[in-house]
Amino acid sequence: MNKMHAAITAVNGYVPDYVLTNHELETMVDTNDEWITTRTGIKERRILKGEGLATSDMAVPAVSGLLKKRGISADEIDLIIFCTTTPDRVFPATANILAYKIGAVNAWGYDLQATCSGFLFGLTTGAQFIESGKHKKVLVVGGDKMSSMINYADRKTCIIFGDGCGAVLLEPNEEGNGLIDSVLKSDGSGVQFLNQKAGGSLYPTSHETVDANEHYLYQEGQAVFKFAVTNMADVAAEVMDRNNLKSEDIAWLVPHQANKRIIDATATRTGVSADKVIINIEKYGNTTNGTLPLCLWEWEDKFKKGDNLILAAFGGGFTWGAVYLKWAY
Ligand code: UT7
Repeated sequence: MNKMHAAITAVNGYVPDYVLTNHELETMVDTNDEWITTRTGIKERRILKGEGLATSDMAVPAVSGLLKKRGISADEIDLIIFCTTTPDRVFPATANILAYKIGAVNAWGYDLQATCSGFLFGLTTGAQFIESGKHKKVLVVGGDKMSSMINYADRKTCIIFGDGCGAVLLEPNEEGNGLIDSVLKSDGSGVQFLNQKAGGSLYPTSHETVDANEHYLYQEGQAVFKFAVTNMADVAAEVMDRNNLKSEDIAWLVPHQANKRIIDATATRTGVSADKVIINIEKYGNTTNGTLPLCLWEWEDKFKKGDNLILAAFGGGFTWGAVYLKWAY
């Protein structure tokens, strides 16, 4: 009998209807389509508009569609790991709220905070529950309503981020497919370059923190770029090396969608040709925890059973990592 792996057996995604184009941003801040396109590769992003709508409201359609595709009901889910940097509330966990909204009455769950690498951390963590034999159906959700923490007067950040959510189901696989290996890293010295300063226990919300715009996402773009462009590429190469994978063995490279230039550097470093690199940054921008599952969702039809996929991400914290998986269907 083969070793048991945790395999993705279904994937689905959801993006809000509202399209915020580069041209609309030109009317909001001092920017232009040419700058945004050449520096980031982004043309438009989706925004969740409307009162009372949160990250979990994007997860509900993503997960409901996933359950339908897989032909199972919500009460069959054992565990929900909700990877997000924009939870509905500081507490309780968005995983809890999602379980309630979809009727996953037999699931327990928790939120996982690893910024843009969250989905990879969640995938790896979720796989352990399958490999241990403890659970049969684990839902890993990656989603963010980034518009809830973006300052739309700050041209350095508002052009990059968007809203969206994706989800995958992990189930046991004894055919040799599923998650094979992962390399995950973190370095807390990066906190200064990308953060939300206030609202936590260090700087609790006050009139002063609100007046000082300290509840918005803060990023020193160039510094983050420097770390991201080498680390994301290195970690993808590392997971390939230690599994004896050459570039021609890779069916698909699935990179975090933060900046087209970082994606290109990862492709160059791993030697994976452009036609095998999944890119949808032009449509959605950086949806943080949403980028990787949204890529899997959009490319699902092209994947073949046994395909080698390398997923890679880099995010605030700093956090970064890469996952090697064999597609299972
Ligand atoms: O997913 C989480 C991890 N995050 C990332 O991976 C993001 C990494 N960083 C980046 O992607 C890039 O640093 C940015 C896209 C954020 C910025 O691109 P950049 O090439 O690093 O630009 P910059 O910050 O060095 O700015 C260059 C110039 C500056 O003008 P001066 O000082 O040279 O006159 C900026 O003020 O571009 C200016 N600028 C803009 N101009 C037009 C900055 N933002 C804009 C803008 N439109 N939106």
